[in-house]
Amino acid sequence: MRIQGKEFQTIWTQKRGTGPVYIIDQTRLPSEFRVQKLQSCRDAFRSIRNMQVRGAPLIGVAAAYGIALAFRETAFRRDWRNLLESRFAMLEASRPTAVNLTRALQILRPLLQCCENVEAAEITAWKYARDLRESEIAACSAIGDHGLPLIETIAASKKGEPVNILTHCNAGWLACVDWGTALAPVYKAWRKGIPLHVWVDETRPRLQGARLTAYELQEEGIAHTLITDNAGGHLMQSGKVDLLLTGSDRTSRCGDVCNKIGTYLKGLAARENGIPFYVALPLSSIDLQIRNASEIPIEERSQEEVLFIESKRRKLRIATPGTPAANPGFDITPAQLVSGLITERGICPATEAGIRAIMEDPDHAA
Ligand code: MRU
Repeated sequence: MRIQGKEFQTIWTQKRGTGPVYIIDQTRLPSEFRVQKLQSCRDAFRSIRNMQVRGAPLIGVAAAYGIALAFRETAFRRDWRNLLESRFAMLEASRPTAVNLTRALQILRPLLQCCENVEAAEITAWKYARDLRESEIAACSAIGDHGLPLIETIAASKKGEPVNILTHCNAGWLACVDWGTALAPVYKAWRKGIPLHVWVDETRPRLQGARLTAYELQEEGIAHTLITDNAGGHLMQSGKVDLLLTGSDRTSRCGDVCNKIGTYLKGLAARENGIPFYVALPLSSIDLQIRNASEIPIEERSQEEVLFIESKRRKLRIATPGTPAANPGFDITPAQLVSGLITERGICPATEAGIRAIMEDPDHAA
C-alpha cells in the first residue's frame, strides 16, 4: 500500500530473497517513517516483542524470517541442530495471543528437523518465510474481495451518502504484509469508487488506531475521523455507523473472536443497535485446537502503557504515582455477537459448522 505515493509492504528482503530482512518500525509512526534492518534471529525477536512489527499475520511472517535469519549466524550454523529449539522457544515467547506466530513456527519446525544438512535447512527456512509472506498477501487481498460486496450492498441503500464503517485497533496493511484484514474490504471498495468514511477508535493504551490506522487511511486518501474508544456506542445509537469491521488475533473453532481489548464492547453495542459486525481474518488466525475461548492466552502488558502517555519517545505520567494499572491486551467477543467471518475463502457464519465447512473446502466462496 502507499506511503507518500510510494508502494510499500511491511516486511521484505532484497531481490535474492534471503537476508537481511527489512521492516517498517511501527513504534515510530506516524511522526517518523523509518526502515529497520533485521540481521539476526534476536533482532526479529526484539522487533516482535517491542512491537516494531505487530498485528497477527505480520508477527507470524516476522517469526518465520527470524528462524531464517538464525542461519546467517556463524555460531548457529556450526551447531544448528542443537540450537534450533532455543531459537524457536525464544520466538514463541515473544507474544502469546496471536495464533499466527505459533502456527508459523509449528509448521516450520518439522520441515527443518528433517533436513539433511545446514545448507538444506537454510534454503528451507528462507523458502518457508518467503512463501508465508506471499500467501498472507494473497489471503488479505482475497479477504478484501470477499468483504467488498458487504460494503457495496450497504452503499446501494445509502443513495450516494458515504458508508460509515467503525474499526478498532489497526487491522490494516501495517498489521499484515499488505492490504490488511478489516481494512482490505475498505481499500477494495475505495478503489471501486464507493463513498466511504471510517470511524477510527484510538485504541488505548498503545493507540494503534490513532497512530497507525489513521495514518494508513490518510496515506490512501480515505475519509476518516479519529474517535475516543468510548465514542463508538454513542455513534451507533445515533445512526452514524453502518458496519463494524475488525480483525482477530485468534478465533476459536466455535467462532469466538479474540482481538484487541475493547472489541467486545464494540460487539455488544453493535448487537444492541442492530449494526452488522463482521470480523475479517485469514484462516491462519483460526485456532482449531481451541474450543473454549477462555483457553486463549491473553497478553498482559506493562502497567506503564496505561500510566503514561508517550509521543515522539517522550513519556508523560497521567495517573498519580502509586496508582496501579491493569493492562490486558486482548478480549474475547462471543461468536453470537459476530455477524460473520470474512476469510480468504469467503464469508462464513461464526459457528463451528461454518468454520469447519470453510476450512475443509478450498473452493468455498459464500
Ligand atoms: O497488539 P497488536 O497491535 O499486535 O494487536 C493487533 C490487533 O489486535 C489486530 O486487530 C489483529 O492483529 C488482527 S488484524 C491483523
